[in-house]
Amino acid sequence: MNAVADSKTYRDNRLKAGLDPDNMPKHIAVIMDGNGRWAKQQGFMTRVRGHEVGVEALRRITTASAELGLGFLTVYAFSTENWNRPKTEVDALMNILMTALEKELPVLQKNNVRLNAIGNIGSLPEKANKKLISVINATSGNDGLTLTLALSYGSQDEMVQAIRKVALEVAEGKLDPESITEEHVEKHLFTAGMPHPDLLVRTSGEQRISNYLLWQLAYAEFYFTPVLWPDFDAEGLYEAIASFQKRERRFGQTSEQLTVK
Ligand code: IPE
Ligand code: IPE
Ligand code: MG
Repeated sequence: MNAVADSKTYRDNRLKAGLDPDNMPKHIAVIMDGNGRWAKQQGFMTRVRGHEVGVEALRRITTASAELGLGFLTVYAFSTENWNRPKTEVDALMNILMTALEKELPVLQKNNVRLNAIGNIGSLPEKANKKLISVINATSGNDGLTLTLALSYGSQDEMVQAIRKVALEVAEGKLDPESITEEHVEKHLFTAGMPHPDLLVRTSGEQRISNYLLWQLAYAEFYFTPVLWPDFDAEGLYEAIASFQKRERRFGQTSEQLTVK
């Protein structure tokens, strides 16, 4: 190993060792952003190379999360709005998804990762959808990290679908509108049964949530980094968690209330 790589491993290990194991996020949500800008910065002719290299970053972060013993990692891979990109880019993204699912299955198995998906996966090309379901099934027995891919996902759309289901229960006389609770909405979201993310990480310097997990991020801590997604690595993840661990999460209460036992 050369000296640069050596000092990087040293830094990574120190950052990792500095994390408080009793205050780890249960669920990290990530907006993997900046692939296109990365490709441009590197001098590639198309944005697609950025998406390809982005898969490697996802592998690094998934592996690092599994090693940390995190329960849930949910990544924004393709939004409902991303369908409006040029067809060539959408097609390339779908091909990258297919290839990645095929190639990464052994890595997921090795790391005991269960794959999951949220979004309108039925609107993906049939081959990609089938491949996705086959990898979800193949990893369903793993009980380590749950890696959820948000694909053809939009939070407003997710909420509309949930509202329709609740409305149907009302229309069928099974539910009184007065007794609708947060739990009724919750159980119809794609994320039903998962804890809400406690940390949201967005790369590439953008500071917005772009229709991601609007309901579920209600009390998440936000962490923004200028690093472009293809360059994001375990060190970046440890830094995000270290920042999370410095926050005081008050959930509406006062700081004093939290310290009084
Ligand atoms: C994120 O990178 C990946 C997807 C949205 C699919 P972008 O493709 O948005 O890259 P930038 O933001 O244009 O650099
Ligand atoms: C959000 O990134 C979606 C994904 C990362 C998949 P975008 O790059 O599409 O978001 P905007 O358009 O800049 O808000
Ligand atoms: Mg972007």
